[in-house]
Amino acid sequence: MEQRKISAMPPAEVEKQKEYINLARTVLSARFSDRAPKAFVHTYGCQGNVADSERMKGLLQACGYVFCDSAEEADFVLFNTCAVREHAEDRVFGNCGALKPVKEKNPDMIIALCGCMMQQQHVAERIKKSYPFVNLVFGTFAFHRLPELLYKVLTGRKRVFATEETDGAIAEGLPVFRDRDVKAWLPVMYGCDNFCSYCIVPYVRGRERSRKSEAILSEAKELIAGGAKEITLLGQNVNSYGKGLAEDIDFPRLLRKLNALEGDFIIRFMTSHPKDCTKELLDAMAECKKCARHLHLPVQSGNNRILKEMNRRYTREHYISLIEYARSVMPDLSLTTDIITGFPGETYEEFCDTVSLVREINYTSMFTFIYSPRKGTKAATMPDPVPYAEKSKWMRELLAVQEEIAAKRTASMIGQTYRVLVEDETREKDGYLTGRTQGNVNIDFAGDKSLVGTFCDVKVTSAGNWVVHGELVQ
Ligand code: SAH
Ligand code: SF4
Ligand code: F3S
Repeated sequence: MEQRKISAMPPAEVEKQKEYINLARTVLSARFSDRAPKAFVHTYGCQGNVADSERMKGLLQACGYVFCDSAEEADFVLFNTCAVREHAEDRVFGNCGALKPVKEKNPDMIIALCGCMMQQQHVAERIKKSYPFVNLVFGTFAFHRLPELLYKVLTGRKRVFATEETDGAIAEGLPVFRDRDVKAWLPVMYGCDNFCSYCIVPYVRGRERSRKSEAILSEAKELIAGGAKEITLLGQNVNSYGKGLAEDIDFPRLLRKLNALEGDFIIRFMTSHPKDCTKELLDAMAECKKCARHLHLPVQSGNNRILKEMNRRYTREHYISLIEYARSVMPDLSLTTDIITGFPGETYEEFCDTVSLVREINYTSMFTFIYSPRKGTKAATMPDPVPYAEKSKWMRELLAVQEEIAAKRTASMIGQTYRVLVEDETREKDGYLTGRTQGNVNIDFAGDKSLVGTFCDVKVTSAGNWVVHGELVQ
């Protein structure tokens, strides 16, 4: 695999976008003389996309936009899309179609689609042909160019398409608009080189490239100074952080540097690939007191033949040995995972190996998906004889097992006290707050809303399958 030496964008390119911000701002202030223009940004998909949207919102705000909560009241609508499963794509096509009558009422509205789905040429073509009311389409490689693209749309007559794949250099120093202060997303690397046979991400996000540690650390410091109490480091495969950078760094060392920053905050990260999850990483986690005792380690399947067909490059035995080591250095470690059921050619017996692995590992929670064929991936060409209805049945079986495990786990929390980060007031009940343990379990408890954004000790008093209730320990 080609190694990239330079992952940062030349400063001149970043400056160019700052100039476009000023140009777009001038056009917009002339067009909206009595009020600020309004933008509605909707994000589909993973946290990586959410982080990209925060960056695009920073650019839009710099151009003069304020944000609103619905497409109906917006002058600029942006959908940041996800291509990981067919269902995600269908939702985007459906919601985009629903914008047509909205635009008929407000013909000056600008509609833009961006992100992973748009990086697929067949999708961009479909938008070009069948959604003529969409003004702007750009892929994952162009998101930092939003000011330039917006300016083109504002001043030209033509629709603008920017979906070419570039070297993916990372733009630093552009503004960010964060949706929340307490919990922050911090991208450390972009792209993926793994090519799991079912997955579209490497095709739409390009090759792995890491941000310089200096840029990550200075953003972390800003976040902490701004009141962040939890920082989640993001990347499709954070364990390969640092590859191709000129500096001598890897993910465990990055964790240690972040852990050494002043302040009371928690570090989380996602996602780790089991093939690159080393003992050194687990040791670093154990050593770093600010690192949450939680590891999201997607296993996908518990069967070695399926893992091989998925091109995951680890075995069930290796995965289990990693977990055993992790638990030996962090006995209170909470584990979560991702699982795909119904991979092409998977048999019921092979699926049962996944169920037995789930029982063996005892996950806190898991994200489960029925396999969805993605055009252009290897798995999409494999024979897939098992009907969807059968795969759904397997999924229900797996969920029932996980529910049983979760119920036992939450029951075992009763009587224990946990340090939780108070995230919000609960919507359902007045005077109640919701917090999260380091192990990523939600706890509801009575308390004043002034506690939101602080760490509190909460004793668990009762538990359901997924939700745990508690009381404040004074
Ligand atoms: N980089 C992360 C995952 C990114 S995608 C990792 O490797 O762990 C998030 C999850 O979506 C994956 O872990 C996988 O479980 C699921 N997924 C990806 N492609 C899929 C597909 N074609 N069908 C069903 N689930 C899929
Ligand atoms: Fe997709 Fe695999 Fe890369 Fe994760 S590691 S993004 S599942 S190809
Ligand atoms: Fe979806 Fe792209 Fe994330 S495909 S899961 S938004 S990287």
